[in-house]
Amino acid sequence: MTDNERQILFERAMGVRQWAYAPYSNYHVGAALLASSGKFYDGCNVENAAYGSSICAERTALVKAVSEGERQFEAVAVVTDNGGSPCGSCRQMLAEFGLDIKVFLLDGMGNISSETTLRDLLPDAFTPERLRRE
Ligand code: THU
Repeated sequence: MTDNERQILFERAMGVRQWAYAPYSNYHVGAALLASSGKFYDGCNVENAAYGSSICAERTALVKAVSEGERQFEAVAVVTDNGGSPCGSCRQMLAEFGLDIKVFLLDGMGNISSETTLRDLLPDAFTPERLRRE
């Protein structure tokens, strides 16, 4: 990932956060993915009156990307008020597409609070290889 791509990734995650629909938690999250194709995909959390039907920002970005044909990713950036870390469901969904994906956590000011990988966030992950029986 180039410095320029990294900059764009952060800007996309910061920018999409304004669209977070979070009337219940009031916790606004923006996420952006850089695919290996070089394209960027972003998403916000979208809550629901039936709370369990809500979706996180990371998964919004991921399903947007995958539904446009992407399968490989370089990095994901997540922006919250306080540099919050991805939930378990988002870790699992992202890990499907590679444990080497870089993860940047940013606070609301755009400061990096953590720089890690899916491998570190989800040790001993259940990945597609586990389903291979031979
Ligand atoms: N949320 C995310 O969007 N990503 C995460 O990784 C953690 C939580 C959202 C879900 C919900 O809309 C709000 O933050 C509070 O949990």
